[in-house]
Amino acid sequence: MIALVPTMGALHDGHLSLVRRARADCSAVVASLFVNPTQFAPGEDFERYPRDERRDLELFGAHGVDIVYAPGVGDVYPDGPVASLAAAPELADSLCGAVRPGHFDGVVTVVARLFRHCRPDIAYFGEKDYQQFRIIERMVADLGLPVRVVGMPIVREPDGLALSSRNAYLSPAERRIAPVLHETLQKMAQDLAPGSDIAAACADGRAALRVAGFDRVDYLEVRDATTLRPALRHGPGLRVFAAAWLGRTRLIDNIAAGGG
Ligand code: PAF
Repeated sequence: MIALVPTMGALHDGHLSLVRRARADCSAVVASLFVNPTQFAPGEDFERYPRDERRDLELFGAHGVDIVYAPGVGDVYPDGPVASLAAAPELADSLCGAVRPGHFDGVVTVVARLFRHCRPDIAYFGEKDYQQFRIIERMVADLGLPVRVVGMPIVREPDGLALSSRNAYLSPAERRIAPVLHETLQKMAQDLAPGSDIAAACADGRAALRVAGFDRVDYLEVRDATTLRPALRHGPGLRVFAAAWLGRTRLIDNIAAGGG
């Protein structure tokens, strides 16, 4: 069985947890290394996205990756870097998709092309990008691709901050504030109970983030973990999702709530 671990490089232990799982599950492990231009909108951080190919190759090698696929833009986009697939709108138009228009079209386009080039049986994605994971699952189902999509738990710093390549952008002062994102989600997940006022809990959570020093909250919402539809009342299979800014850095996180 062939595993694919798609990445944009700037590897951290979250990526390496995917590689470890792939190594344990499969006889051949391919990792891709490609900073995909079509998932960045104009004005986003495509140019400054951290890149350290030499270190990434060493880490992949040390963790038993058999093949690193590191295509150029022209290999993935021979006709120019334009998204040619559309992400399922009912999953992609809210949360990150509402503030990053076109982002998930770029993601499904590149992942479909990486699948075509690497032909994996299984592909692994981190659940920090939970919405992305669900959208890719749907894309695979809609196109009938013979790939099993596996979501892997978020890997965190000891203080709770979800690992992300973008954490490198944080100043020391921002880094001290950043764990409040996870703390806030955790508190919301713990407090949610039958009969609780979900809208009020989200408003309180947003206020807590702003008091802690977050500059802007793109969203903080409770949703069904499968359909990503807004949760109107407490029940099983819910998830709390957030995206918030510290200076020029946008952090995202999510956590299971309501027993699922
Ligand atoms: O999650 C990521 O790093 C990227 O969105 C992915 C899946 C590698 C596609 O470019």
